[in-house]
Amino acid sequence: MIICKTITSLQQQLIPINQKQQTIGFVPTMGALHEGHLSLIRASNSQNDCTVCSIFVNPTQFNNQEDYNKYPNTITQDIYQLELAGCNILFLPDVKEMYPDGILISKQYNLDYLENILEGEYRPNHFQGVCQIVEKLLSIINPNQLFLGQKDYQQCMVIKKLIELMDKKGAIKLEIIPTIREKTGLAMSSRNARLNEAEKENATAIFKAMMHIKKYLNKKSFDTLEKEATELLQNHAFEKVDYIKICNATNLQEVQNTNSSQKLVVLIAAFLNGVRLIDNMQLN
Ligand code: PAF
Repeated sequence: MIICKTITSLQQQLIPINQKQQTIGFVPTMGALHEGHLSLIRASNSQNDCTVCSIFVNPTQFNNQEDYNKYPNTITQDIYQLELAGCNILFLPDVKEMYPDGILISKQYNLDYLENILEGEYRPNHFQGVCQIVEKLLSIINPNQLFLGQKDYQQCMVIKKLIELMDKKGAIKLEIIPTIREKTGLAMSSRNARLNEAEKENATAIFKAMMHIKKYLNKKSFDTLEKEATELLQNHAFEKVDYIKICNATNLQEVQNTNSSQKLVVLIAAFLNGVRLIDNMQLN
């Protein structure tokens, strides 16, 4: 695997690939890689001539400085895992390389209602920061396919919108890969590295809460289900629940009952000992 720390060296590596008209699959990450990320690398490998992965902890998408400072860094292990998974190029820039003019959100993306619901409501400006860095990365790499994990359900929708805003809808194909879970049901996440074993056990309450909602979807009101799921998290040491919402899976608009044929998804964000975990599950 080739490691590029600068935009110039990365683009240099991409010249022969583009000249040979080979396809490029791109997997953007913030490191602390786990099986979820590696499944994206493998999916890209199976469909492309070249897989590029980026590791960059993007400061403009963190609305909480402590969360940024504590973001896990396991770079030696990450490089080893990427090699094993067959990644061809790792882009590993520093903050100065990606933000030469300082850490600023320099542009506003029109994300419509997606900006202010769910993650957008609880993490102001988060998606503006995500769009800013993903636009930079896509412009540098110009991939044929972009691979994202379904665990970040709303982020997938935001980046789909970004690709439209960039006028790249026909050029970059977005591939959304299912969430990888531990045997316990806990969704793999870089933030899990901040949990001890007892906390990881408690964290499985998110999966249990989603399964509870799925089981009783047609038997109880959505209000009752959301309340019961909140109690379940609170009984497993979650100190704060940002949201538990049943939404239309296509547009993320909140839904009050099942009296229609629309596809539904439940989305959860909650804090366990200061670590913010998110997850989601398709319900029907
Ligand atoms: O999902 C992530 O890890 C990040 O939001 C992304 C897409 C790499 C942008 O920084």
